[in-house]
Amino acid sequence: MAEADRPHLVVLTGAGISAESGIQTFRAADGLWADHPIEAVATPEAWHRDPERVLRFYDARRDQVRRARPNAAHKALARLEKRGLRVSIVTQNIDDLHERAGSRRVLHLHGEILKARSSVDPRLCYQLPRGGIRLGDVCDKGSQLRPDVVWFGEAVPRYAEAGEIVAEADLLLVVGTSLAVMPAAALLDQAPLEAPCVLVDPEAHDLAPPGVTRLARPAREGVPALVRHWQREGRLWVPETLLD
Ligand code: APR
Repeated sequence: MAEADRPHLVVLTGAGISAESGIQTFRAADGLWADHPIEAVATPEAWHRDPERVLRFYDARRDQVRRARPNAAHKALARLEKRGLRVSIVTQNIDDLHERAGSRRVLHLHGEILKARSSVDPRLCYQLPRGGIRLGDVCDKGSQLRPDVVWFGEAVPRYAEAGEIVAEADLLLVVGTSLAVMPAAALLDQAPLEAPCVLVDPEAHDLAPPGVTRLARPAREGVPALVRHWQREGRLWVPETLLD
């Protein structure tokens, strides 16, 4: 079957899909933003004021990511793609767990922690196979390197591209996100009206916007359960039996 004729699953993931791999989420009571105020570590102003503190914060994020392993939810999505379904992942996560699980089409909306980029030219991007970024590490144009992440108050450069992917979904699966951050949360509005949308998140009942089907389970249970149905039937649908 031609690529464009195959059922297209678009998956929007957030911190919750990586929680069971040991990576902290942001907005839980014990989440990252509880101990590290956003304005101190995740804004352009913080970077200008105290770059060392910002680098330290992201060094810790990078260490956590390097120690983590993909979990059953990442692996189930990769398996589905391997079986021939068209699977596109748009992730808000800066970790590489989708890629390590084997997914090949992954768009990082908020950047990638294992990359550094120039602070004057975002096109100059460098992999960080080990270690972190130090003050004095510079790009090919001689300017300080910064983490390749999108901070609060910055534009989201790949948003339009992500919107185009979502607009081609036959089913939109949303996993582990509080949908609290714009413009990422607005991606749900870009899905075709006839495409079902499912949210897998323990807090799904409180978080899902109207019209979104709720599967209130952790990612490691909810995602593989859906994938098993889709693999068995070769089509994308929302099995009523899974819903609470
Ligand atoms: N399985 C699925 N979802 C889970 C799990 C789990 N095991 N554990 C927690 N969650 C859910 C929480 O219920 C919550 O809805 O994950 C979500 C995490 O929400 P946030 O911490 O707000 O993370 P996210 O939505 O990814 O944040 C978006 O905000 O700070 C920025 O740039 C950062 O990309 C991030 C963006």
